[in-house]
Amino acid sequence: MKKVNIGLLGLGNIGTGTYKTLEMNHDLIAARSGLDLAITKILEIDTERERDITVVPEQFTQDASVIFEDPDISIVIELLGGIEPATSFMLEAMRRGKHVVTANKAAVAANYDALTTCAKENKVFFRYEASVGGGIPILNALTSVLQANDFMEVLGIVNGTTNYILTKMTDEGLPYGEVLKDAQAKGFAEADPTADVEGIDVANKLTILMALTFGNYVHPNDIPREGITKITMDDIAAAKARGNKIKLIARAAKTESGIEYSVGPMELPESHPLAGVNDEFNAIFVKGNAVDDLMFYGKGAGPLPTGSAVMGDVLSIAKHLK
Ligand code: HSE
Repeated sequence: MKKVNIGLLGLGNIGTGTYKTLEMNHDLIAARSGLDLAITKILEIDTERERDITVVPEQFTQDASVIFEDPDISIVIELLGGIEPATSFMLEAMRRGKHVVTANKAAVAANYDALTTCAKENKVFFRYEASVGGGIPILNALTSVLQANDFMEVLGIVNGTTNYILTKMTDEGLPYGEVLKDAQAKGFAEADPTADVEGIDVANKLTILMALTFGNYVHPNDIPREGITKITMDDIAAAKARGNKIKLIARAAKTESGIEYSVGPMELPESHPLAGVNDEFNAIFVKGNAVDDLMFYGKGAGPLPTGSAVMGDVLSIAKHLK
């Protein structure tokens, strides 16, 4: 059986979920694909944390070059988060001939051109399915089975934290501040929720969606953006009285004057498919000129749903290596 060795940058929540996905399904994957996948080296400072996975101390390194210089490693998974050093590490891995898989929307959105160009120049695969919609297979769908379409519109609820907050405000009549505290206590919201509640995370994801649907790269900082921090209970009640729900929406559409795009709260009629997407769930609604309306729904965050998307990318690359 062909062995494929993988280097993992970062064993935080998503790294652990990715490792766990492979650990749980290793034998099934091997039986299906004839590939023996193994995460052999891990860049991680915190080697002591209890993680519910089987990792031996010899797998850990504190030096990324140990992974880049390992001739037996063919795929590098980047799950450090943040733009740097993640981008530099991905570029370096590609220059060393390694294929790269990431879930890092901030790095992909900020450095899309540099990363995709570097992959082409070095003839390696660069995959980032998990960066938008966590476990939802949206990016690979756009670039494979839907690639014969001219896309008209993409509309998404692509942030679980803010969707959870808006759902609780709507269904339980609770104010923003109270729901945010509850979401933080339950681990849905980060201790510093700025990137989520100000729409920064959604803008990163819209940059990636637009690059793939319209071939149009727009830096996330250039996307008109509003978060959910100013939404009051009166706004929610007024929307409800009109038969609508407020959702934080990433939107891009083809118009006669070009591509229009924005991130912000939108009132959707309760009958709209996206209005029924609640709690931490994500959904992406796409309109293609041949396929017409499509909606993708699922868990947009969390270690295992994200690990599922990361390992899916790894496996599809590994099949090419075979
Ligand atoms: N903070 C993000 C969310 C994580 O709440 O959706 C997944 O990208």
